Amino acid sequence: MVKEELLKLLEESRGEILSGNDLKDTLGVSRNAVWKAIQLLKEEGHHIDSVKNKGYTLLKESDVLSVGGLMQTLGAQSSYHVEVLEEVPSTNTYLKESDSKKNNSLVFAKKQTKGRGRLGRSFFSEDLGGLYFSLLKKEDLTHYNPSYATIACALSVRDALSEISGLPLSIKWVNDIYYEGKKLAGILTEGTLEMETGTLSSLILGIGINVNTKGFPQELVDIATSLFIETGRTYVRQDVAKNVLSHLEKNLLLTKENPAGLLSAYKKHLLYLGEEITFLYNTQPRTGILTDLTPEGHLLVESEGSLLTLHSGEISIRKGEQK
Ligand code: BTN
Repeated sequence: MVKEELLKLLEESRGEILSGNDLKDTLGVSRNAVWKAIQLLKEEGHHIDSVKNKGYTLLKESDVLSVGGLMQTLGAQSSYHVEVLEEVPSTNTYLKESDSKKNNSLVFAKKQTKGRGRLGRSFFSEDLGGLYFSLLKKEDLTHYNPSYATIACALSVRDALSEISGLPLSIKWVNDIYYEGKKLAGILTEGTLEMETGTLSSLILGIGINVNTKGFPQELVDIATSLFIETGRTYVRQDVAKNVLSHLEKNLLLTKENPAGLLSAYKKHLLYLGEEITFLYNTQPRTGILTDLTPEGHLLVESEGSLLTLHSGEISIRKGEQK
């Protein structure tokens, strides 16, 4: 389609003016067809300037998720199978429910109607500048140790967002990225087991980041934040995704090659280390000092004279006393 081809050309030269004449020749269509395709792209929200007698330019800050734009950003030779959905209940569920999806399927949604978090929680996923995507791994799973997948993912998101924004971000065990007491991003990793053998047959890594979100509903205002709110800048979500994925692919390999190194990098950014936290233990609220991580990535907490090991499946922690 002319529109997709045109977007690809504009993406390849973001910030530069491409002449209408060159575009029509490259695409092999009329000038009018180029003009019409530009109007359609503008209607989709792409920031394209029409420069009189010169041509068209896709502005550097234009931030619309598209398959073409993502392919361009991630690199033509990347092995991802990219999809961009207007709306879906959850990108994790979407990948989980389809057997036909290929290894390295990478699904983005502009909006999720049932964005999911850990422990059955929901994740705010309106079409308001957030980045919601899931990556499916179903080949070469022996290259990874799934026990560390959430840790690898959390560290990747933290490092990528810190690099992009300059903010000193922290990780709230096990999967939340925080800035000054507010949540900026969350991760939901899910695996499927082969019933007969008990081996892992697929891994879904779901990531939600509040990127350009300008505000949150009342009930989230005190607990959620975004890169935009904290830095006053807007970000091209495709670039954010690229940065996260490049950290993620490296860190996933470390889950097998060097989990101790991965854990030590993770621990550097761990919130509440050495501080008092509260948690539910056997359904009872308890307080204790967050002492360390075990080599498996579980949490060691000193509470009422004993050292407890908390596993991520059941536990959520918070600072200070349980309310
Ligand atoms: C959490 O808050 O505990 C984790 C939130 C994870 C949200 C992401 S958004 C993309 C993917 N799809 C989902 O339904 N959840 C993850």
